[in-house]
Amino acid sequence: MKVFYEKAKVISLKRIGDSYLEIVLENRNIARWGRPANFVLIKGWENYDPLLARPFDIVQADGETGRFMLVIKVTGRGTRLLAKLEDKSEVSVIGPLGKAIEDFSISRIGLLVRGVGAAAVVLLAEKARERGIEVYTFLSASTGSRLVCRELLEKYSTEIEIATDDGTIGYHGDARERVSAYLDEPGFDRLYTCGSRRFARFVKDMDKQGRIEGYLFLETYMACGMGDCHGCAVGKATGEGYYLVCKDGPVFRSSDVVID
Ligand SMILES: Cc1cc2nc3c(=O)[nH]c(=O)nc-3n(C[C@H](O)[C@H](O)[C@H](O)COP(=O)(O)OP(=O)(O)OC[C@H]3O[C@@H](n4cnc5c(N)ncnc54)[C@H](O)[C@@H]3O)c2cc1C
Ligand code: FES
Repeated sequence: MKVFYEKAKVISLKRIGDSYLEIVLENRNIARWGRPANFVLIKGWENYDPLLARPFDIVQADGETGRFMLVIKVTGRGTRLLAKLEDKSEVSVIGPLGKAIEDFSISRIGLLVRGVGAAAVVLLAEKARERGIEVYTFLSASTGSRLVCRELLEKYSTEIEIATDDGTIGYHGDARERVSAYLDEPGFDRLYTCGSRRFARFVKDMDKQGRIEGYLFLETYMACGMGDCHGCAVGKATGEGYYLVCKDGPVFRSSDVVID
């Protein structure tokens, strides 16, 4: 897959709650070639503070309009600068990066996501539904105002269960309990998770027990985003060597990697 080093124009920037941004950008190559699990490196500031571009999942990509969307949690300096972008300004973009999910020879998937981790699976849900695959989504957050990508996931899911820690919306409690209720019937060919170490450990555990094929979207610190700096290494479950999240991932079979 070709990687593009280009500019993208800011079409719109919407603030969601107090800590999230939804940014629509225009760049024909990213919009055309972005696939499920691909991400981009974005730099929306002129100087070298911060030095590195920041990685974000491609949430939507429309080859016809040339537009793609990111959903960003404002956490530190880079994302605070992105929050100040104005319409029609430009950012640098590198991508699409990462190994896309291309194998859709399945009939039913589960998506267990928390917080901004939901951004990672929207494109997967969309493309799976286009191919007639059933998508069961378990969307979780600490509270209702932190549910991310809810409308899009409602649109692309066959069924969606929402769980909040404080019970403001949906099931009052842990989304893993809701997934457990579906594991045997209807069951999933694959269960993907993103956004929570607890969820990743749960999926790994279920995979180990042979109850599902589990897949983890991993997020690490990244510099180059394409296999050169080795800053994004995660240990192989065999104990020998490591994978690079940017190049070998970001999605891994849960039994292949070490997670803490
Ligand atoms: C492949 C990939 C896809 C991602 N997709 C998204 C996305 O779609 N939406 C989104 O909001 N975020 C996503 N992230 C995380 C996002 O890249 C970071 O939150 C962002 O780089 C923080 O930049 P900053 O300059 O604002 O924060 P910094 O000032 O760099 O850090 C602020 C705080 O966040 C912590 N932090 C920063 N990066 C990470 C990280 N990768 N993992 C854990 N903690 C971190 C730091 O320790 C620090 O406490 C993704 C990361 C990866 C690797
Ligand atoms: S970020 Fe440089 S090798 Fe992965």
